[in-house]
Amino acid sequence: MISLRVNGAERSYDDDADMPLLWYLRDELGLTGTKFGCGVAACGACTIHLDSIATRACVTPMSSVDGRAIITIEGLSLDGNHPLQVAWRDLNVSQCGYCQAGQIMQAASLLQDTPEPSEADIDAAMSGNLCRCGAYPRIRAAIKQAAGSTRRAVEGERP
Ligand code: FES
Ligand code: FES
Repeated sequence: MISLRVNGAERSYDDDADMPLLWYLRDELGLTGTKFGCGVAACGACTIHLDSIATRACVTPMSSVDGRAIITIEGLSLDGNHPLQVAWRDLNVSQCGYCQAGQIMQAASLLQDTPEPSEADIDAAMSGNLCRCGAYPRIRAAIKQAAGSTRRAVEGERP
């Protein structure tokens, strides 16, 4: 029996231990915000947080998530107003949208570790998340906006 926590809720799983976490999230829990792109950890569409670390769910077997905490795009914030989600809306980042949950989860992990990322930090953190629509400039701008609003909130200013 595998026990895990997904977006704050305790879950258990007792089936194929080799099944990728991505299928569990999408097909068994209905958390379809996390997308399937390549299946080989090469595009970032399936990025979730595993114990707070950005992780590719497509290559994460269920056997490796026992006792661990997972956050998906659905659980990133209670109300859809994580600073990244706000910035994404403000700047109309999405085009087709397919890659965007993975992009936001990857960016959230970056801001967790590096609240004020440089251009180089952003490029390094986001280089494994592909966008076939080429929304990269808006993704970068939104990450910068979110980093700024988080800093202002911490300093007690109006975001
Ligand atoms: S679907 Fe997982 S990295 Fe592409
Ligand atoms: S917005 Fe279409 S793939 Fe990124």
